[in-house]
Amino acid sequence: MWTPPERIRRPISETRWPSAEEAAASRWFSPVELGPIRLDTRTWVPAMVPWRATEDGLVSEDVVDWYRRFAEGRPGALVVEATGIRDIPSGPLLRIGDDRFIPGLQRLTRAVREASRGETRVLIQLIDFLTVKRRPPAEKFLRRFLTIDEGHRERLAEHLGQGSAETDDAALREFLIAGDDRLLEAVLTPRELRDLRFGYREGVGDLDREPIRELPARLPGLFAAAARRAESAGFDGVELHYAHAYTMASFLSRTNDRDDGYGGSREARLRLPLEVFAAVREATSGKLAVGCRMLGDEVIEGGSTLEDAIVYARAFAAAGMDFISVSKGGKFDDAKQPKVGDSVYPYTGRSGYECMPTVFSDARGPFGRNVPLAAAIRAAIRDDGATTPIVTAGGINAFDQAEAILARGEADIVAAARQSLADPDWFAKIRSGHGGSIRRCKFTNYCEALDTKHKQVTCQLWDRQALDVPALRLSRDGRRRLVAPPWEPDPSAS
Ligand SMILES: Cc1cc2nc3c(=O)[nH]c(=O)nc-3n(C[C@H](O)[C@H](O)[C@H](O)COP(=O)(O)O)c2cc1C
Ligand code: SF4
Repeated sequence: MWTPPERIRRPISETRWPSAEEAAASRWFSPVELGPIRLDTRTWVPAMVPWRATEDGLVSEDVVDWYRRFAEGRPGALVVEATGIRDIPSGPLLRIGDDRFIPGLQRLTRAVREASRGETRVLIQLIDFLTVKRRPPAEKFLRRFLTIDEGHRERLAEHLGQGSAETDDAALREFLIAGDDRLLEAVLTPRELRDLRFGYREGVGDLDREPIRELPARLPGLFAAAARRAESAGFDGVELHYAHAYTMASFLSRTNDRDDGYGGSREARLRLPLEVFAAVREATSGKLAVGCRMLGDEVIEGGSTLEDAIVYARAFAAAGMDFISVSKGGKFDDAKQPKVGDSVYPYTGRSGYECMPTVFSDARGPFGRNVPLAAAIRAAIRDDGATTPIVTAGGINAFDQAEAILARGEADIVAAARQSLADPDWFAKIRSGHGGSIRRCKFTNYCEALDTKHKQVTCQLWDRQALDVPALRLSRDGRRRLVAPPWEPDPSAS
């Protein structure tokens, strides 16, 4: 992963934990309304893909175990990982693009209710993503994928300082295969160079491709059908994934230059996200909370900034979303070049760092790094008179930190992904006065490195503990436990 050049190692600072009485009287552990549903506390576990679904995208026993384990800590809300709304093969990522996915998801929502004693509200993140292919060997790309046209011939002639390059396609291909980077950079278009160096990747601006042209016609229906299924599977809410590297965030992005009324100006970029939301509302009962996760800043060259995000959030609040969860970065645009045969991964560049900041940081450090974005968005929508709850995440790992964010009015709900992975019981520990026994996240992204490799995600703080327990479920390599060890409160420690 990209690291700020300063590479200052920020310590996980000592913190104070409250008594059970103080926690009970705190803001973080006070209720909040999320449209039609009520969270018992303002604690939230955001979406995290654990790579545990079956190859067909179905809920597996390991998926149920994963969410049950988070629910044992009784967060106010638990958001199930990004779940694909289309019925297309996508490896071990959860899917909800057909009714056959409902029974598995039902098992999941039941497990969360049981394990949290009915306290945790369970939401699911609905995602659409476009095709990303692996980086091809250069020769394969030049021989099989490159479509030669007059432009190539003209640029070659110019590069060679000749009036024209009278070569047939086959000879030109061979010339490119034998050539160096400078030749390729002179002859290929920027998009072809990207496909060669990073692998082919669809973009929302590819209007020459029918499926891309048709996205505005198809996506509202696909999201609506997925949300309807989520409701029948027992979810309390859906989070529309309008963040990071995926289709809906690409529509919102300043880089979206579609000229069909769905790109270009801010209003046009907002059009599809608003249409998707309207379709989801229409398709579901008034009992389902519907909100989105969006970016407070894309952190890429030419991308949307906080100024854009404020406009988007105000529109979402005005349209009646029940919550807005603010994230940052996580884009393909600045991702690291993958090895030949691998796919580009969106959390490997600077924007990825901003999404999941580590302790190897700059002067600002990773803790609460993204709170100012949520705060600015919240202030703007409050000025409009909207009360839409705002969720913030990014480097949250302590009670006083969360309380201060709420006290300053920077967010309404304070979420923690990696700290909850490190210790799924941490909310329960704080509430019962056992804060001192919390396993504190190191923020060095061992979990994220597993995610990058599409391996089952675990935490370095617990995945090799007590591996000899009978019937313990282990990772595919047989070396790691798949859920955190159980916690038995030590009565003398409270
Ligand atoms: C392993 C892993 C998987 C993640 N998967 C998702 C995801 O499916 N959807 C999403 O919006 N964010 C995802 N995230 C980002 C987190 O929800 C969160 O925004 C980020 O980790 C910053 O919060 P934290 O500092 O509390 O970890 C993931 C993070 C991790 C570590
Ligand atoms: S693996 Fe590291 S960064 Fe991830 S949750 Fe565990 S301690 Fe935190």
